[in-house]
Amino acid sequence: MGRQVRAAYPGSDNYLVSADKQADRNNAPNGDIVLWGGTGQAKVLAEFLGALGYRLVAIFDNNKSLRSLIKGVPLYHGFDGFRNWRATSDNPNVSFSIAIGGARGRDRSELQRRLEAEGLTAATLAHPTAFVAGSAKVGPGSQILALACVGAEATLGRAVIVNGRAGVDHDAVLEDGVHIGPGATLAGGVHVGECSLVGAGAVVLPNVTIGPDVIVGAGAVVTKDVGPGLVVYGNPATARRSLAASR
Ligand SMILES: CC(C)(COP(=O)(O)OP(=O)(O)OC[C@H]1O[C@@H](n2cnc3c(N)ncnc32)[C@H](O)[C@@H]1OP(=O)(O)O)[C@@H](O)C(=O)NCCC(=O)NCCS
Repeated sequence: MGRQVRAAYPGSDNYLVSADKQADRNNAPNGDIVLWGGTGQAKVLAEFLGALGYRLVAIFDNNKSLRSLIKGVPLYHGFDGFRNWRATSDNPNVSFSIAIGGARGRDRSELQRRLEAEGLTAATLAHPTAFVAGSAKVGPGSQILALACVGAEATLGRAVIVNGRAGVDHDAVLEDGVHIGPGATLAGGVHVGECSLVGAGAVVLPNVTIGPDVIVGAGAVVTKDVGPGLVVYGNPATARRSLAASR
């Protein structure tokens, strides 16, 4: 404990700075940013916002019993809290990121629409250790986390998460609100429909199409197309239940 290992990639000199110090930093060329969602995903994002040149100034969460997990950054509750904060903020150019993971792509997309309508800008975030091919397209509000890899001519929509160590190979298409879990591997040409979650460590074989609102279980091997609204898992992955039926 207590030993810091310095990350070895260009521009990483100031990377290992705790999140509270990042929030205090004067050097924030990308300006102020707020997070919607104050739990685990907020910690993940707060950890590298400073390295991208953002200053984290506020967090919002609908859970009224939640307190800020990020030292020095206040947490406000719901849209009432958001409007109170907005009324006291003198900066009209604030970015935001939605810190909500899991299978909540519809919530992420909806919150993104609402905050854009309030005049904030959806930040597109890629961790300094992530690789994103120059020919890939990444939509507003998407997050590419530590050590993830997004290959040539991949296309990511809005509010997509490519989680830590996940791989999205060439020509893959991730529609709005998709979440690729930690360590999942999507081979070339895979297409994932709106708001689907591919669980941690799952593998999706080349050119497979996964429909919208699907959950692919952790560790699954998806060998053929998956229809909308299904939960699939196992190797080979098979449909276990329909999400529509359980709603
Ligand atoms: C697939 C998943 C959605 C199933 O959830 P569920 O429908 O609530 O299923 P349950 O937890 O009730 O489990 C039902 C059975 O399936 C098994 N099971 C659950 N997930 C499994 C998986 N990924 N692979 C193999 N078996 C699984 C359980 O062990 C259980 O078996 P049993 O009936 O013999 O006890 C969930 O387990 C999962 O893998 N989610 C992905 C989470 C993730 O990776 N998130 C990344 C976000 S960071």
